[in-house]
Amino acid sequence: MIRTDSTPCLFTPFELRDFRSRNRIVISPMQQYMAQADGRANQWHLVHLAKLAVGGAGIVFTEAPAIEARGRATYSDLGIWDAAQVEALKPVVEAIARQGAAPGAQLFHGGRKASVQRPWEGYQSLSTADEVRGDVPWPTVAPSAIPASPGWQRPEPLSRDEIARIVDRYGRAARAAAQAGFRALNIHAAHGYLIHTFLSPLSNVRDDDYGGSFEGRMRFAPEVAEAVRAEWPSGLPVFYRLSCIDDLPGGWSLDDTVALARELGRRGIDVIDCSSRGLAERGTLTPGRAQGFQVPFAETVRRETGLRTMAVGLITDPTFADSVVTEGRADLVAIGREALFNPHWPLHAALALGHDPDFRTWPPSYGWWLKRRVGALPGGRAAGR
Ligand SMILES: Cc1cc2nc3c(=O)[nH]c(=O)nc-3n(C[C@H](O)[C@H](O)[C@H](O)COP(=O)(O)O)c2cc1C
Repeated sequence: MIRTDSTPCLFTPFELRDFRSRNRIVISPMQQYMAQADGRANQWHLVHLAKLAVGGAGIVFTEAPAIEARGRATYSDLGIWDAAQVEALKPVVEAIARQGAAPGAQLFHGGRKASVQRPWEGYQSLSTADEVRGDVPWPTVAPSAIPASPGWQRPEPLSRDEIARIVDRYGRAARAAAQAGFRALNIHAAHGYLIHTFLSPLSNVRDDDYGGSFEGRMRFAPEVAEAVRAEWPSGLPVFYRLSCIDDLPGGWSLDDTVALARELGRRGIDVIDCSSRGLAERGTLTPGRAQGFQVPFAETVRRETGLRTMAVGLITDPTFADSVVTEGRADLVAIGREALFNPHWPLHAALALGHDPDFRTWPPSYGWWLKRRVGALPGGRAAGR
């Protein structure tokens, strides 16, 4: 990317269709497991997401609301399949926007990884033992009757009629997200959830139009893209999150991702959100990975398809994040856990990169004080770290 002034590329606006965000930093979708069983957003979601918007990100994605009840991962997930859920999302969306960030939603169907325990309760398939907490397991669905991991629930294979109904529900959910006021949409097709299981040969062994060959496995994902695009405002962007590789013998590959991304681009998808893994085990969260380990996927998809990409995964250093955009490896950089650790990460990055040494982009009720505090800190340290 060519820099036109001294603004670091990370802090240049991102413009696409009629959409504009104040910079290229995105809060990655993160389940909070804090909803009640009705799937409605509550005060936690508002406080959590508005706080992240105050932190200075350009786009703040909510966690992934499920498009239908059986698509939830846990009883504490958000939903976007009924009108009350849409009403509950509206104040959250407004709070994000009022703090200057573009509010984004991610559409989710857990497939064979639905009906699980909250992370701190084990993160495994719900079983009868969980009923003491009131968490009764519910039947899960997938392209084929293959459990995500040994001991996990065996999913019910989807009929063709059911597949058509789910595609339709994605479209309805996109319309609902627009009604709630969201400005960006992200379709979750990664991490072993429903769409990913259609793509991977390890989880899709169907012998009909939706399985078997590469073309068969690729049918569902573009159909969802098309249904969403048809219901989502044409001036606003749609992101598509993919697990770019399964990293398992015989699994989905980066070449497959490039082919799919081209097809998604033809169906009106604007940004490929490049994650990886998770078909069976918990993918990107496993330890031992290096900063920006998934950036090469975003770089390859961007180069090979000409589509815009978002990089995500262990991006914590502002200079590195800026270099990803500057070097044209991705158009956007998403942060997840680093934002939980430091909700003001984007504002701190602006400071670290010399973009905002005077705390101008902070809310004035913080920035006015912090600017004057600099002289009082040992050595005049700006960040006060
Ligand atoms: C608490 C938590 C919840 C997450 N929930 C989602 C989710 O709803 N949708 C999704 O696509 N990824 C989800 N992820 C993955 C993140 O969006 C992100 O891709 C991953 O954490 C890697 O980025 P990081 O290293 O910056 O955290 C979640 C991660 C965490 C830590």
